[in-house]
This record gives sequence, C-alpha cells and structure tokens, in this order.
Amino acid sequence: MSEIFRVFKTLLAYLKRPDLYPELGRKIIKNIFNRRSAFKGREKTNLWATARAVSLEEAIERLFGKKLQPFSELFSAEYAEAIQKQANCPVKMGGAGALELIYEACEYTQAQTVVETGVAYGWSSFVALKSLEKRGGTLYSSDMPYLSQGGDQYVGHVVPENLRKNWKLFRHADRESLPRIFGEVKEIDVVHYDSDKAYDGMMWAYSQLYPRLRKGGVFISDDVNDNSAFQDFCEKNGIEPTVVDFEGKYVGIFVK
Ligand SMILES: C[S@@+](CC[C@H](N)C(=O)[O-])C[C@H]1O[C@@H](n2cnc3c(N)ncnc32)[C@H](O)[C@@H]1O
Repeated sequence: MSEIFRVFKTLLAYLKRPDLYPELGRKIIKNIFNRRSAFKGREKTNLWATARAVSLEEAIERLFGKKLQPFSELFSAEYAEAIQKQANCPVKMGGAGALELIYEACEYTQAQTVVETGVAYGWSSFVALKSLEKRGGTLYSSDMPYLSQGGDQYVGHVVPENLRKNWKLFRHADRESLPRIFGEVKEIDVVHYDSDKAYDGMMWAYSQLYPRLRKGGVFISDDVNDNSAFQDFCEKNGIEPTVVDFEGKYVGIFVK
C-alpha cells in the first residue's frame, strides 16, 4: 500500500511540473519496456572494476601528483556547517561521494568551467565551487530532484550562501538541462557525472559531455559498476581510466 502511495505521490508531483513531462514520459516507457537496461553488463564490469580499482589516496597521487588532504580538514568550519545543514534537512537525499577527487580535479585543471549532473544536498557542488571561487569560475549543475518527498527546495541545501554567485543550477532532467547548459558553455574543464544511473542515461550523457571536455580536462563518473556504460564508453573511445574504490562503490576518472 505504501509503495502505491509513493508512486501516486511521485506521479502527482511530476504532473505539477510540466517542464519534467519529457522525463516522466521516458520513465514510463523505461519501466514498461526496458526495466533491466539499468543493470546491463553489470557482472562483466564488476570484474573489470575490481581488477583495476585503487584507493582514493593512490588515485590522487597518480592523477594529480598530490597527497590526499581530506576536504573536511581543508575547509573544516564550512564543512562542519554543511554537515549540520544536512542533519537538519527534513528531506533525506544521497550523501557525499569522493569529494577530494572533485576538488583536486578542479585545482589540477585550474578550472573555470565545471559541469555536473546530480546535485541532491550539493556536496559535489560545494567542493567544486570551493575551488572555482579562487578563479571566479562557474559551476553548471543539472538536477531533477526528489519529487516524491517534496525535496525540490532542498536541492543544493548544503552549498554555502557566499558560493552561490558562481553557480548556475538547471532544474530539469539531464536530457533537457544539458542542451541548455551547452548553450552557455563552450569548453568544459571538469565533468562530474552523478545523476541517472541507468545504462542508456549514462551512455547518452557521456556522449554529450565528453566531446565538450577540453584536452587535459578531467572526467569523473560515480557508480561506474552499476552497469557497463562507463567501461563500454572508455573502451569505445580508447580511454584508459582509473577506477577508485570509494566506500565500496566505484568512481571512474580520467584526464582527457
Ligand atoms: C547521488 S545524487 C547526487 C549527489 C551529489 N552529486 C552530491 O555529491 O551530493 C543523484 C541526483 O541525481 C538526480 N537525478 C537522477 N536522475 C536524473 C536525471 N535524469 N536528470 C537530472 N538529475 C537526475 C537525483 O535527483 C539526485 O538528486
């Protein structure tokens, strides 16, 4: 009963947002005709990822030639404030990922332009903005939030007020947001992909983001072992990525 209520609430929330109708249509089609595609190639990729996975510390050393400095220590006061905001937030969303990887990627590229998909509380946005503020750069984010929980207003909740001037948040599904973002952005220094985790969604977004990433730019994708999209994309494009074992999940990263 509670599952039916949740689906009904989500549907109602979608119906109130005409800008999200295209995504609603895609979700309905996926759930009827293509349910298993989310996990396509998962077994093969788990073997691939496990065989090449390194620790966060090793990845930062290998890619950026730096020692791992926890973000929570680098910016301890702002980090503690963000943790407090997350704890007090009435809507529960996904938590922080490998923050140091995103921060160091922005530092390494001296990023002016970062594009990310998937914001939730805004941990990845917070760390990217913390680096971008040094150069007056801009973060472009895409998120289609937790509609069933009324979570719209809390997307990016932990991002400190003073960093928001460098932030453009596009509140649609990626397939609508990314074309809008590309209308404003020519070359990207850092990509962080952390939204739709279905095979087709990942493949579509990678194929849009990768050509716009500049040479020497950094591409990061979370949850690359949910299916084989990241592995297949890398193999197709002759990319040798690093896979990072982060708290039991795998993050893929490479420098273009
Ligand atoms: C794991 S969370 C992102 C966490 C965030 N990067 C952080 O570090 O705090 C995934 C987010 O992706 C969003 N999302 C899922 N599918 C999406 C889609 N097709 N388009 C845009 N956003 C999507 C969800 O609303 C959710 O907020």
